[in-house]
Amino acid sequence: MMSFLSGKKILLGISGGIAAYKTPFLVRALIKKGAEVRIVMTPAAKDFVTPLTLSTVSNNPVLSSFTATDQDNPLWNDHVALGLWADLFLIAPATANTLSNMAHAVCNNLLLATYLSAKCRVFAAPAMDLDMYAHPAQQKNITTLAAQGVTVLPVGDGPLASGLSGKGRMLEPENIVVALENHLAAQSPLHKKTVLITAGPTYEAIDPVRFIGNYSSGKMGYALAQTALDLGANVILISGPTALEIKSPRLLCVDVQSAAEMFKAVQHHFSTVDIAIAAAAVADFTPRKVVAHKIKKQHIETNWQIELIKTNDILGYMGKHKKNQLVVGFALETENMEANAQDKMTRKNLDAIVLNALTEGNKAFMSDENAITIFHKDGRSVDFASQPKATLAIEIFNQILKNNAP
Ligand code: CTP
Repeated sequence: MMSFLSGKKILLGISGGIAAYKTPFLVRALIKKGAEVRIVMTPAAKDFVTPLTLSTVSNNPVLSSFTATDQDNPLWNDHVALGLWADLFLIAPATANTLSNMAHAVCNNLLLATYLSAKCRVFAAPAMDLDMYAHPAQQKNITTLAAQGVTVLPVGDGPLASGLSGKGRMLEPENIVVALENHLAAQSPLHKKTVLITAGPTYEAIDPVRFIGNYSSGKMGYALAQTALDLGANVILISGPTALEIKSPRLLCVDVQSAAEMFKAVQHHFSTVDIAIAAAAVADFTPRKVVAHKIKKQHIETNWQIELIKTNDILGYMGKHKKNQLVVGFALETENMEANAQDKMTRKNLDAIVLNALTEGNKAFMSDENAITIFHKDGRSVDFASQPKATLAIEIFNQILKNNAP
């Protein structure tokens, strides 16, 4: 599963406490989650961990002074650019001295200058001896920083460098990573929302070895599910048979075969969701009865007729039963495309419909790419030229979220 830290630019500020020796592990953990890490450290921090170690694990230069020397010509280390570059500034360990300086806008090293010019969210992981941490002046600084918008992380409880034991240890690197991930998760647009997606084809059994199916690959539905996960949602993916797989602790994958099974799964889950998107290519008809044994050809005369009956309209069910849910459907049309899609949206009581523009050369089913038009129930429509289903999925969510707060 993709981490919320993936692609994030993290600026790590290291101040001079013994816990600084753990920062290479912290950098590794952040990079493993897909973050890019740059480091600024105070001169005192260099006594605990070397810039060489940190530049090696972060794969970036490490800064610690206002200027860098290029032969004989000093260069200005731009703390403003560094602060603007970051999505998130993490100061770990944050010593008593650094916390105090931060609280009072002292600016006597590059870390503090960067802190004062940074516009992004700032986290601090305090690290000090237990009595220093408990001191009222220290607690006052922490309260001041929190009031100024800094997220001051809790400290760990355990053995300290002094030989004493108590509250003051820097939070372990893996716990810092979790704290950052939780923060980023809470900011994501679909945090705590549940999205239901139907995907793939359905297989309608004729006998134990034969079925009526279609060419749907499931790619569009799975791309939508992945996008919903990336936006922080809990996802219920109700999928017909496909070769695809996605994994996430926030994903419930319900595998089904037939339209009837898909309908049952949707009925079960629909009332619990905030957004539902029907991307599945559901069979409109199914054999009236499934023959218990394989049909032998000698038992069939020249013509074989299979009686088909209508399946339930799953999307129609969702449109009919929706309360606050946003319900979005797909339409595949070959003639009177716009009118038919809009009519389908009205008939099925949808909030939006995605029209697969099935023109020559656009094979919506088999391809990784597709061209679509999104119609909203307020009458607006937006066209998207042929592009990968992964980016279309993002456009679809952008459109839904722009138009309707779930
Ligand atoms: N759909 C569904 N359940 C069905 C059939 C279709 O949920 N039994 C959904 C598809 O996932 C898609 C949309 O409905 O989102 C497609 O519309 P569809 O019902 O196939 O079009 P129809 O209303 O059947 O119109 P027509 O067959 O006339 O094109």
